[in-house]
Amino acid sequence: MPKIGVIGGSGLYDMKGFVLNKKKAVKTPFGKPSDQYLLGKIGNVDVVFLPRHGKHHDIPPHSINYRANIWGFKKLGVDRILSISAVGGIKKGLTPGDIVILDQVLDMTQSRISTFYDGKDGVVHIDFTEPYCPELRKVLMKAGKGAKVSVKNGGTYVAVEGPRLETASEIKSFKILGGDVVGMTGMPEASLSRELEICYSGLSVVANYAAGISRKKLTVAEVMEAMQSSTGSIKRLLKETIRLIPKNRKCRCGEALKEAKI
Ligand code: HPA
Repeated sequence: MPKIGVIGGSGLYDMKGFVLNKKKAVKTPFGKPSDQYLLGKIGNVDVVFLPRHGKHHDIPPHSINYRANIWGFKKLGVDRILSISAVGGIKKGLTPGDIVILDQVLDMTQSRISTFYDGKDGVVHIDFTEPYCPELRKVLMKAGKGAKVSVKNGGTYVAVEGPRLETASEIKSFKILGGDVVGMTGMPEASLSRELEICYSGLSVVANYAAGISRKKLTVAEVMEAMQSSTGSIKRLLKETIRLIPKNRKCRCGEALKEAKI
């Protein structure tokens, strides 16, 4: 049976229908994950939940131990991760509350340790043409229909360092580059997962218009409010997605390291 990992972002600290079995602190060679992992079931599927910012939301995006978080999932036997995050909407037509099933990434982060392979175990270059698992994306789209949750198919995630929000010029340039949404946590989560051959999908909730897209000043209260009001839909979507995830993987995420090592 598959074991599904869920990374909860701002505002998502529990899941619909999740029956908690136990909490587990996991040790990794990279230090501590954001919190204890919550192990349990949704229906008859094993689910492992981790709040990205810690259960009290006290770890800012630039201080998250991304390597420890993803390593911990691997250690617990997780082979698929559904990752939820709050974003600012850049693309015309995106409004707060929209849920985007991401399909591309523009990585603007610079200071984060973004690999497990620093040379000691060989030099590794994973294929990242498609940063999100195509199989999980399909399941999420289908689950949207089944759970009657409206989701947008595809979007380019611009990953920034934070914790500050962006300037209007930055957002303008991201738009020209093809960015649709902007967030602070999507990378290196996605590439680290690929390096460990875990399927990874990104579900972004538009919490606000990105800087300069609307005239309003951006506030954290606005972001948290939008996240809160979409948690119902996200939880329904997750529950249906977990029900629909096939037992065996047909994507190529599980063999990402084949032909990637020098
Ligand atoms: N920018 C970056 N990260 C975010 C935003 C934003 O506007 N909203 C929520 N996370």
